[in-house]
Amino acid sequence: MVDVRILVTGGTGQLGSAVVARLRAAGEEVRVLSRRAAPEVVRGDLRTGRGVDTAVAGVDVVVHCATDYFGREAQLARTLVEAARWAGGPHLVYVSIVGVDRVPLGYYRAKHETEQLVAASGLPYTIQRATQFHGLVRTLLSGASRLPVVPVPRISFQPVDVRDVARRLAALALDDPAGRAADFGGPEILAAAELAQAVGEASGRRRRRIVPLKVPGETFRAYADGGHLAPGHREGEITFREYLAGRADHR
Ligand SMILES: NC(=O)c1ccc[n+]([C@@H]2O[C@H](COP(=O)([O-])OP(=O)(O)OC[C@H]3O[C@@H](n4cnc5c(N)ncnc54)[C@H](OP(=O)(O)O)[C@@H]3O)[C@@H](O)[C@H]2O)c1
Repeated sequence: MVDVRILVTGGTGQLGSAVVARLRAAGEEVRVLSRRAAPEVVRGDLRTGRGVDTAVAGVDVVVHCATDYFGREAQLARTLVEAARWAGGPHLVYVSIVGVDRVPLGYYRAKHETEQLVAASGLPYTIQRATQFHGLVRTLLSGASRLPVVPVPRISFQPVDVRDVARRLAALALDDPAGRAADFGGPEILAAAELAQAVGEASGRRRRRIVPLKVPGETFRAYADGGHLAPGHREGEITFREYLAGRADHR
């Protein structure tokens, strides 16, 4: 096990599995941490700490893609940082979200706190913020496509494909620690109405009337102001429609 160089936490998730595939395709030896038993997986839990020391032992790089949607994002990272320090201080690559310091969502606040924890950890680190994944945007907009009239928020997204983000993360993992790396965004910034239209078309349902709505509240205002966008960083190559077409191929 000691010859494995890279650990990917969350390597079973949407992004993490793409990172693992990318690194393995490049010939790298990759270890995956998961709470569930599976082949080529080190079983462990970043909430309890069980198995984490074993997972981190002997690695040069940890790509931290595991996440917690229930307020324990920083706790997971704290456990990982502690184990990593004991293991000799591998390069820690943390995946965050564009706008975590601008959009007042609880999950974003937890990610921002975790960025600060990683930066202060004393470990060599890289923090990569990315815009919203295609899968998240599709999920947000697909429920509504079942209605005859589709209400969508009057905001835009810059969805990015996890395969593109994985390409960037694999490169960062094999490079020197970069601190806070430049943001990584999808190739297009599109109104939610246009994205909802694409989701509807890809699902093969009858064309629905899409109605953009203004939503009250400071979170919506932050989105409307583009706090979650990275217009100067459109490095992602796979468009939202290409992603949807790829999904259709698998149906
Ligand atoms: N979704 C977006 O639009 C977006 C945009 C930018 C950045 N990001 C960031 O990208 C990262 C990956 O997101 P994703 O959508 O790929 O996540 P995901 O598919 O929901 O996967 C979450 C992963 O976390 C692991 N995990 C959860 N709790 C754990 C625990 N206690 N111990 C160990 N592992 C645990 C899960 O592994 P097991 O279940 O196998 O244990 C799973 O592999 C996150 O940090 C997210 O904030 C997401």
